[in-house]
Amino acid sequence: MAEILITRSVFKEAVNLLEKELHIVDINDSDRILPIQELVKRAHGKAGLICLLNDKIDAEVMDKLPSLKVISNIAVGYDNIDIAGATQRGIMVTNTPGVLTETTADLTFALLLGAARRLPEADQYIRAGLFKNWQLMQPHMGVDINGKTLGIVGMGAIGQAVAKRAKKGFGMRVIYYSSSRKESAEKEYGAEFVEFDKLLSLSDFISIHVPLTEKTKHLFSTQEFQAMKNTAIIINTARGPVVDEAALVEAIKKGQIRGAALDVFEEEPKVHPELVKMKENVVLAPHIGSASIETRLRMAMMAARNMVEGLKGNRPPNLVNEDVTSL
Ligand code: DGY
Repeated sequence: MAEILITRSVFKEAVNLLEKELHIVDINDSDRILPIQELVKRAHGKAGLICLLNDKIDAEVMDKLPSLKVISNIAVGYDNIDIAGATQRGIMVTNTPGVLTETTADLTFALLLGAARRLPEADQYIRAGLFKNWQLMQPHMGVDINGKTLGIVGMGAIGQAVAKRAKKGFGMRVIYYSSSRKESAEKEYGAEFVEFDKLLSLSDFISIHVPLTEKTKHLFSTQEFQAMKNTAIIINTARGPVVDEAALVEAIKKGQIRGAALDVFEEEPKVHPELVKMKENVVLAPHIGSASIETRLRMAMMAARNMVEGLKGNRPPNLVNEDVTSL
């Protein structure tokens, strides 16, 4: 039996799973992010912390929580947690990979289509009562997707699921840049590995699927936008800071690229005010890549299972810091 803090509302099934193991669960059953001091106060003396991607768990927080054994993040990304710091302190960190791959790839395509075919604008047009008659010179003419080139940056599981949709569903040419070659994606989806600068200049659509690290922060900035086609659309369902939002705004304003479809933002939940004003070929979503009921439930259950195993002193199925010594 151990005490666990869950920092935000989760599915009751996940709480039940923890309680069945006789753990005592303290849950911040709301959508309010706990200020760090409050989080520390509530997590103090507890062995488990189940948190979300917007709970920043750094070395300072861990130092104040000496009884912490397992941090279970309900997300595949874990840039909100100081992994090296956790390893040093013998704290296991887990994430939720795999279960959200297809759902996130679906949303990537929804955004791509939304921006290319200007769906939110068309929706607003109807609601404003402006649809009077069909015209050949329709005000919301978009661009085709079929036959175009999609550049995927980061060919992990989500990148590959996007490649599958692009090739098999939309007849696109898929090119990619990644830290390593992905032979299965090359074979199955005809994905061609290219250098980053080539990807920038050849792609009609660029979809980002890299984690946020020191190296990927502002991977897309002024120079990269300048190197892109002026008809290109960029899609980001990974992490906001991979794109320099101010540079993106400039690039769209100057017509260096056509538009953007963003599910993540540099300073979430804040969105660059100029982006909010942009309507044409710009689609914005509130970080809903994995937000289907089925997937969010799978993520919560996976996080709960990771916690249960970690607290038993077993290797959790989705351990991030493999070199943690507490095992
Ligand atoms: C993640 O899991 O990292 C996503 O951003 C939210 O599902």
